[in-house]
Amino acid sequence: MIEKQLVGEKAAEHIKDGMVVGLGTGSTFFYTLQKLGQLVKEGLSFRGIPTSVRTQVLAKEMGIPLVDFSEIDRIDLAIDGADEVNPDLDLIKGGGGALLREKIIAKAAKTFVVIADPNKAVEKLGGFRLPVEVVPFGYQLTKQLISKTGIGPELRMANKEPYVTDNGNYLFDCSIGSTHNIKELEQKLNMIPGVVENGLFIGMADILITTDHEQNVVIKNRKES
Ligand code: A5P
Repeated sequence: MIEKQLVGEKAAEHIKDGMVVGLGTGSTFFYTLQKLGQLVKEGLSFRGIPTSVRTQVLAKEMGIPLVDFSEIDRIDLAIDGADEVNPDLDLIKGGGGALLREKIIAKAAKTFVVIADPNKAVEKLGGFRLPVEVVPFGYQLTKQLISKTGIGPELRMANKEPYVTDNGNYLFDCSIGSTHNIKELEQKLNMIPGVVENGLFIGMADILITTDHEQNVVIKNRKES
């Protein structure tokens, strides 16, 4: 889709020489990676820290220099896609299963830039099912506790087996609807033993790069509340 390419490539403009950059995951960020591969060949000098094994492999293929957490003391900028974005720039992420590493890196970054085609824009989060990452131990019991929050967890499957994240965990995809207080829901979920993280990214995105329906790039900054 052309919009994914437009926003993905635009995001690369935020990267400057010397930066440590969180590298997102997904089909939109793929275009950022491609662009960055090209810019590195032209002399741009930065170091990337990937949010998934998939991105790590792709970045290496594209000649993007990577660093380990042990080698850095900061992340200047993180760029990543989203599954839903509301007008406050709150997000649902994790459709691709990488939410935990994405959240760790987005939280650590000085600036978090989200790239999303206009189909990701919603008035209220909740049309997309919220991924919740859990440890495999006792996941059946964890499912019962997640169910009590009223969000109908369904174990994500791959080839008839539970889908396993890069961290060796399972995912529940949950129907949150549009009526919940998302801040409260996030807290409730993270209080459940066995839950590692959830795909709500509230108050984290600083900048959204999207397009209008005429394919003009539109940049929005989060309003401080
Ligand atoms: C990966 O786990 C996700 O959070 C992605 O960033 C998100 O699903 C956006 O992916 P696309 O750019 O492929 O839509």
